[in-house]
Amino acid sequence: NLLFDMDIQTQSISDRLSGAPLPRHIAIIMDGNGRWAKQRSLPRSAGHYEGVTSVRRATELCSDTGVGFLTLYAFSTENWNRPQEEVDTLMTLIGMAIERETPDLVRNNVRLRLIGDIERMPADARDRLERCRQATSHCSGLTLSLCLSYSSRWEIAEAARRLARLAADGSISADEIDEEAVEAGLATSGMPAPDLLIRTGGEKRLSNFLLWQAAYAELYFTDTLWPDFGKEALADAMADFQCRERRFGRTSEQVEADTAFQADS
Ligand code: IPE
Ligand code: IPE
Ligand code: MG
Repeated sequence: NLLFDMDIQTQSISDRLSGAPLPRHIAIIMDGNGRWAKQRSLPRSAGHYEGVTSVRRATELCSDTGVGFLTLYAFSTENWNRPQEEVDTLMTLIGMAIERETPDLVRNNVRLRLIGDIERMPADARDRLERCRQATSHCSGLTLSLCLSYSSRWEIAEAARRLARLAADGSISADEIDEEAVEAGLATSGMPAPDLLIRTGGEKRLSNFLLWQAAYAELYFTDTLWPDFGKEALADAMADFQCRERRFGRTSEQVEADTAFQADS
C-alpha cells in the first residue's frame, strides 16, 4: 500500500528532524530537468513532467513537518528566452499540474501564492493559476509560493518604481525610504525571509532568485537533478540546515549566550 508506505517515510523523516528547529521558510531553485531527460534520451519536456512529482513531494513533506513557507522557482524572467516550443510546453504543464493538484492542496490546507510578472503568462495558464489561488486562499497551513516569470532584479525594480510613485505624489518623503519600505514593495512582502535556500542540479549560482530576501539564507547546493529530488533528499537538506550556526553578523559566543538564555527562560 503506497499511501501507508509514504506515511511511514514521512514519520521516519519527522523523527530524524525532531532534534532542532526546522527552517520556517524553504526556497528552492528547481534545476536539472533538462539534463535528467537528456540522460534518458528523452525530450526536455519529459524532465519537466517528471519534475512535477518532485514539487508534489516537497510540498507534502513541508506541509507534514510544519514548515510555514515553501517558495519554488519554476520559471525565470530569463527563461522566456528559451525555444518557444519549450516555453509553450512549460506553460501548458504548469497550468495542467496546478489544476490537477488543487483538490489535494485544499485537502492539505496549503495556500498558493503567485510571485512574478504573472501578466506575462499565457491567459490559459494564468486563469488556472488564479483559480487555484482563489480556491486555496482560505487555507492556513503551508504557504506554497510559485515564482513564475520571476526575477529578483525585476522585483526590485518594481519596488523602486512603487516607491518613486509614492514619493512623487507626496505619500512618503525620500528620507522615509528604509529597508522596510523597500521590502513592502517586494513580491514576497509579508513572508519571513527564506532560512534555507536549496539549488538542485549542480550549479552554484542564484540565477536572479530572491537576491534581497536571501541575504542571510543558508545555502545548500546538491548535484541531484530536480526530478530525482525526493523526500529523503529534502530531509538531508533540512538536516544540514539544523547543523548550521546562524550568526547574523555576531560572534559565535554571542549566539551561544543567547541560546543559553532562551533555554533558561
Ligand atoms: C529547471 O530545469 C526548470 C526550468 C528552468 C524551467 P532546466 O530546464 O533548467 O534543466 P537543465 O538545467 O537544462 O538540466
Ligand atoms: C534557474 O534555472 C531558473 C529556474 C529553476 C526556474 P536555469 O536553468 O534557468 O538557470 P541558469 O540559466 O542555469 O542560470
Ligand atoms: Mg537549468
